[in-house]
Amino acid sequence: MASLSYRDDSRQGAGGLSDDDDKPLPLDFTHHYSDTTKSRNASKIKAIYKFFQIPGILNIAGGLPNAQFFPYDTLEAQAAKPERWSPSSGSSNPSAPNHITIPHDDSTQKDLLQKIDLATALQYGMAQGYPPLLGWIRQFTRDHLHPGVPYKGGPEVVLTCGSTDGFAKALNLFVTPWRTTDPISSRPGLLCETYVYTNITNQATPLGVQMVPVKTDESGMAVSGPGGLEDVLANWDSSKGKRPHLMYTVTLGHNPTGILLSVERKKEIYAICSKYDVIIIEDEPYWYLQFPEASSLEAESRGLPPPPRSSPSTVTTPSSGFPFLDSLTPSFTPLDTDGRVVRLDTFSKTVAPGCRLGWITAQPALIERFERITEATTQQPSGFVQALISKLLISPPHPSPTPSFSLFSHRPPPNHQAGNRPAS
Ligand SMILES: Cc1ncc(COP(=O)(O)O)c(C=O)c1O
Repeated sequence: MASLSYRDDSRQGAGGLSDDDDKPLPLDFTHHYSDTTKSRNASKIKAIYKFFQIPGILNIAGGLPNAQFFPYDTLEAQAAKPERWSPSSGSSNPSAPNHITIPHDDSTQKDLLQKIDLATALQYGMAQGYPPLLGWIRQFTRDHLHPGVPYKGGPEVVLTCGSTDGFAKALNLFVTPWRTTDPISSRPGLLCETYVYTNITNQATPLGVQMVPVKTDESGMAVSGPGGLEDVLANWDSSKGKRPHLMYTVTLGHNPTGILLSVERKKEIYAICSKYDVIIIEDEPYWYLQFPEASSLEAESRGLPPPPRSSPSTVTTPSSGFPFLDSLTPSFTPLDTDGRVVRLDTFSKTVAPGCRLGWITAQPALIERFERITEATTQQPSGFVQALISKLLISPPHPSPTPSFSLFSHRPPPNHQAGNRPAS
């Protein structure tokens, strides 16, 4: 029998344990879990799915249909190569398509991280995501997007049906629904910028969540002064509800104001969230749409003098390995020593909104809870979409996966730094 090639605890990411012995463990946030999250157990059915991937294992349980009867022989597309569009010149080369073919059954491929076929993509699968796509996104996230996450072991990821779904799952994880007949002292609150993306209020308020707007200026959420974050939390009036333990923020291209939160402001906000024990949900659909030359081009088109060069980031993170990623304003993740940041990413603005595909990045114990929620709700994003996006990203296959190209890092039972620091 072949060994389980997709779960190898001896493999580690570039942000893995070997080079992060000095880092602190992430904090334990179980005290913030909703009642449903506390009582969620792993799906017994999903727990056995991984064994069905082993050649020779006979499936007599789990409700998996015979893949031979899936009514598709192939899934094919003409897709754009990255060089089709040039971000600066606006030139295009539509004559350079990339033909994608997903076969029904790629039995020649034994490596689950490279095997993209309909027999696996259209089957029931692991809640964390389709192995090739999950493996790619996990490595991209840990080694390139957020190489400097400052807690031991680094973050994990779980795939979602987009950021809207990611936020719904975050509410599921952290919010016990509140009714007007419940004590006001238990009413949950959600800190947010003064103006907030409507879908957030649409999701949160029916659960009894009180929206708590923080004063916001042209650089983002204000930290000090009347109505600023410290003021709201330090002078919280408990006759209005429980002091908020959740924040929702969009730090780049904020919807609807377009604000970009500076790194210095992020540091101050993070320090206050750490002091008052607030979980930060960072929703960044527009993060990849940063165009470093945009402000000077805007000034030029308006006949204004060139803007001053922005001061270099004072957060030092290891290089992502890509000049474009290094040029982006850092997220909250390189500041996240506590493991209190839940970051939402999506393919909606980089590929197409109808993909309904994204991912959550957070400390492993939180991702484990997101997996349990996913098992019981969406199960996983659509197999058609996961297969097509896998092919777009991974094709042609990596000649030899790097050691960090694994689905999981060490996953001991949640091991946390002792003692949280709530300012109660
Ligand atoms: C701030 C913000 N979050 C999330 C979304 C929706 O993301 P998704 O399509 O991944 O659900 C949008 C879409 O406009 C948005 O502006």
